[in-house]
Formats: sequence, C-alpha cells, structure tokens
Amino acid sequence: MIYTASSSRVRAIVPSDQRWLEMLDAVMRRMGIPVRDCILGDDRLVVTVHGQGGLPFSLVLEPSKRGQPAFREIGPFALSYHGKQQLDQPDMKVLLLFEKIVRRLGDRIPRKLKGFAALVHDIKDDPELVLRKLFPFVTVERSAGPLGDSVEVLVRTTSRCNQACPFCSAPTHSQPAEDIVLACARQAAELLPGATFSLTGGEPTLKDSFQAEVREALAQPGLREVQVQTNALAFGTRIDPRNLEPADRLSFFVSLHATDPATYDACTGTTGMLQHARAGIDELLQAGHRVTLNTVACSLNVDHLETMAGAIPAGTGGRPVEWHLSALICPHDNPAAEGVLVRYSRLVPAVLRATEVATERGIRTSSLLSSTHAAVPPCVLPQTHEVDRRWLLDENREVELPPDRMKAEGCRGCPENKRCPGVPAAYGRRYGLDELKPLVRGSGE
Ligand SMILES: C[S@@+](CC[C@H](N)C(=O)[O-])C[C@H]1O[C@@H](n2cnc3c(N)ncnc32)[C@H](O)[C@@H]1O
Repeated sequence: MIYTASSSRVRAIVPSDQRWLEMLDAVMRRMGIPVRDCILGDDRLVVTVHGQGGLPFSLVLEPSKRGQPAFREIGPFALSYHGKQQLDQPDMKVLLLFEKIVRRLGDRIPRKLKGFAALVHDIKDDPELVLRKLFPFVTVERSAGPLGDSVEVLVRTTSRCNQACPFCSAPTHSQPAEDIVLACARQAAELLPGATFSLTGGEPTLKDSFQAEVREALAQPGLREVQVQTNALAFGTRIDPRNLEPADRLSFFVSLHATDPATYDACTGTTGMLQHARAGIDELLQAGHRVTLNTVACSLNVDHLETMAGAIPAGTGGRPVEWHLSALICPHDNPAAEGVLVRYSRLVPAVLRATEVATERGIRTSSLLSSTHAAVPPCVLPQTHEVDRRWLLDENREVELPPDRMKAEGCRGCPENKRCPGVPAAYGRRYGLDELKPLVRGSGE
C-alpha cells in the first residue's frame, strides 16, 4: 500500500514500510528545519532545505562505507552535505540539528535505506521537477516541433538487462517496486498531462510486473502515449505480446542494431540472440502492435547499415514499421561508448544511403535530427535534407548545454543554436569541432 498525498503544499509518495520518512519529516519541521523535500532512493536519503541567502543545500544520509569521507558518522550512517562548498552559521545550525534528530531516531531509520519514498513540500516548483524528485529513476525529455511541444517521461523500471551493449547510455538506479511505478504513472498523468510515458531500463520486460505497469500507464487518460523501450527478446521467448491489447496509444521502441548475427553480437555484448530478437519483433507485429525499430549508428554497424536497410522487417499494411536511426550518446559514466564513435562525415552518408534503401521498401525512417540528445547537429547533414522538427531540443528550456555536450565557438551565430544538441563532449575531444559550421539563416527552415 502506498500513501499518497497531494495538496497545494505537499506531494507525498510513501509506501507503508517507509512511514518513518513521514515521521522524520514531521520532526524536522517541528524542530524548525526549513525542509523543501525528503527523498529516499538509490540507497540514500536526501533532505533538501532552504539555506541562507535563498540557496538550497542537501543533507545526505547513506550507509557508511569504509574510506568514504563524510561530515559525521552516525551509527551505521555517513552524513554529508551537498550543494554548498562551505556552510555559514545558520546553515551549520540546520546540519547539526539534523544530526541530532538522526541520532535521536536511531533504529527507526532503516540501516540500508532501501526502496523509494518522497515528500516534496515546495510544489509551486516546476511540475517536471516535482515528478523527478518524487521518482529519482525518472528523466524527462522535452522537444519542440510544428505540432507543439512534446514531453517524454522516461521511467527506468529496472536497471537489470539481458544484454550488455558496450555503448549503453542508461544510468543505473535501484529497482523501483511495482507499486512505485504504478504511482509514477498516475503522478506523471497528473503533473505532466499529455506526456508520453516510456518504460525503459535496463530491460523493462524482465520485471514480473512489466505488463501490470504497461496497463496502469494505459489506464491514465492524462498520458498521451505509452511506449515500451525493449530489445524484444522477451517477446520471442516468454511473453506473448497478445496479452497486451494493441492500441494507438501503445507503441514499442525496439532496439535492433544489426541484422547480421556477428554485428548484432558485437553491438549487444551477447552471443546468438539475434534470432530471438527477430522472433520477438515478428510476434509484436503479428499481434498488431505499433513498432519502431531503433538502431544506434556507431563504428560497429556503420558499414552494415545499408545492407540492414534491405533486411529489416517492413511490418504489415495496417501497422508498418518505422525505422529510427540514433546518433551515439556518450554518457560520462560509460567511457566504452566513446570507443565506438564514428566521425559524422562517415556516419551521415552511410545513414542517408540506408535511409534511401529503406524508403524504397516503403519503410518510414526518421531523420537523424529526430531525437533529443541522440541526434546530430543539423549542419552535418546536407542542406537539402528534409528537417523533421518534431524532436529537436526545445528552444526555451535547453539553452544551457549539458556538460557532456560540446559546440564550436561559431555555433553562437547559427540560427539553430538554441535547438541544437551539439556533439558529445567525447566526440569533440576526439575529432575536434571543425565539422560544425553555422547555418545560413533560413537554410534549415
Ligand atoms: C538503454 S535502452 C533500454 C531499453 C532496452 N533494453 C533496449 O535495448 O532498447 C533505451 C534506448 O536507448 C538506446 N541507447 C542505448 N545506448 C545508447 C547510446 N549510447 N546512444 C544513443 N542511444 C542509446 C537504445 O537503443 C534504446 O533504444
């Protein structure tokens, strides 16, 4: 059972075995700690408070680990603070008060800090931020286009996977229990109406509750679409996709990085699984589901893309397959991704040739621009390239470039600058930024 509360002052998601968090929150507030939110997740408790000078900072409690520096050891816990280099006197008073409360509550706080629970007080905040705070395994991606803004809520329902793609960009989180994911679907529908809710991972089909999670998301009229990001192995081996009723609001975004067994093995870090993935894709199509195949274009498959375009399943008239080609994201916590980068001057022609072959077969492909971060800058595509604006970065929100992306000095003058994701920082370090040339105003329109 989950206790949820939402009023104009607080939003809470607290499973019955985590009620201690509510008690801690109440004690802190009674003792005068200006709590903004208390978040339990990924084996730690983070309490963010209003600090001096209007600057928030966080008090972090984790099971103590040998050699890990901390402000204080309190029984089984290490206490530290984040968000401010140095605490001035009033902030230090808050930290010491928190230490006192933790000492006093002692055994009532579980030693391992497992599971997820959250109380967010400042709910005047951006609803997206509130959702991400309530569910730390969620990321939100926004994009803009002629049909308006799109919001995608990516929910990492598990970090377990049955493949080991060397370039995997997924962050690792503790696994949220089924009822937390169900609560997440309800809160996403309420906080971000019209959003796409994407179950991803890891491999979301590995969770016993996978089908229940899909059904609960579909039951939320506030969610525009429910997407399952999967490698489809489960549908070729153990889950009958007919268990889920096909619907326009339900789609499967299936990774297929090659149609040749050796390249597939290299891209997925596995052996002999291509036949199961293909069987899974066939099952999804035969069940009448909407399927988009996603191929991450990298050095492992770049020379295979054109052949692949002739070999991917085309789907049926009622439900034709779409083919999405992604550029490589290089997350800072997976340095191996950098090892399979390929220069855009080689990648782009290969993708365009593959796209042509697929188009001739009646398969709709989406532009290399049509992801948020897994996209290439528009200037590395031929200017005659049809710009599909649906998934470009939103102009108003992504003004600051994230630290793992890079742009050239000249990009400032480009009319696409505010919507362009630049290149992965690892790409810039390896190949330089000479390929980036500001577009002439109007040329990308
Ligand atoms: C991390 S996977 C998890 C879902 C599922 N296990 C799968 O293989 O599709 C989510 C999506 O990210 C894509 N992906 C993984 N690593 C990537 C990278 N480095 N750059 C771009 N896309 C990536 C995958 O192809 C997949 O479409």
